[in-house]
Amino acid sequence: MSNATLPDGVERRTFDGTERLATRGDPVYGEPTDGEWRAWSPNRSKLGAMFDLGMETGLEGGETVLYLGAASGTTVSHVADFAGPTYAVEFAARPARDLLEAAESRPRLFPLLKDARKPETYAHVVESNVDVLIQDVATRGQARVALENNRFLADDGRLLLAVKARSEDVTREPADVFEDVRAALEEGYEVLETRRLETYHADHLGIVAQPR
Ligand SMILES: C[S@@+](CC[C@H](N)C(=O)[O-])C[C@H]1O[C@@H](n2cnc3c(N)ncnc32)[C@H](O)[C@@H]1O
Repeated sequence: MSNATLPDGVERRTFDGTERLATRGDPVYGEPTDGEWRAWSPNRSKLGAMFDLGMETGLEGGETVLYLGAASGTTVSHVADFAGPTYAVEFAARPARDLLEAAESRPRLFPLLKDARKPETYAHVVESNVDVLIQDVATRGQARVALENNRFLADDGRLLLAVKARSEDVTREPADVFEDVRAALEEGYEVLETRRLETYHADHLGIVAQPR
């Protein structure tokens, strides 16, 4: 585990003799707990992997977050443990049921059953000038989704993006897909850091960017 800067509310703690990232909150996916702390598994979470691999996310804790591709709430529940208002967009009804459950004990977590390709459908709910846009949609057109949601980000905000190569094209080399996604992002973002998440997630790239 590297020495990346961690936000307030995220700590390295020992669970069963192993040091792991952890946040404080009710458990969501059967993760180990120690008192009020819950382990954050980088194997289950691309954002957890980005922290674990030492990427500088710029997160300090307490930020307003728009999270795209929340699924059943594994990662976004950890985010809501240390962030401020956290808007969690997921368009599949089934995982969204578990997401609602994760939100029950998290007053700052707001699940939205919406399509991230249609930001106009949640623009009336999500405040403008969010500090951080986190995206893990694993679907074709990942750069386009990030660009369309750029409108919510504050000028000095951050995009934390997990790109799954196979969601774009299963037949192409992941490195070529990543290059294309990165180039497409340039339309609205300046890329600050990229890192293959291979240790934990095959054929995924982590990207930290800021709006242009
Ligand atoms: C890899 S999973 C996300 C896992 C989750 N981020 C976590 O770490 O806990 C991708 C999710 O994105 C959702 N998704 C894909 N395209 C979407 C879209 N256009 N709008 C909203 N959700 C979408 C899928 O339904 C799926 O639940």
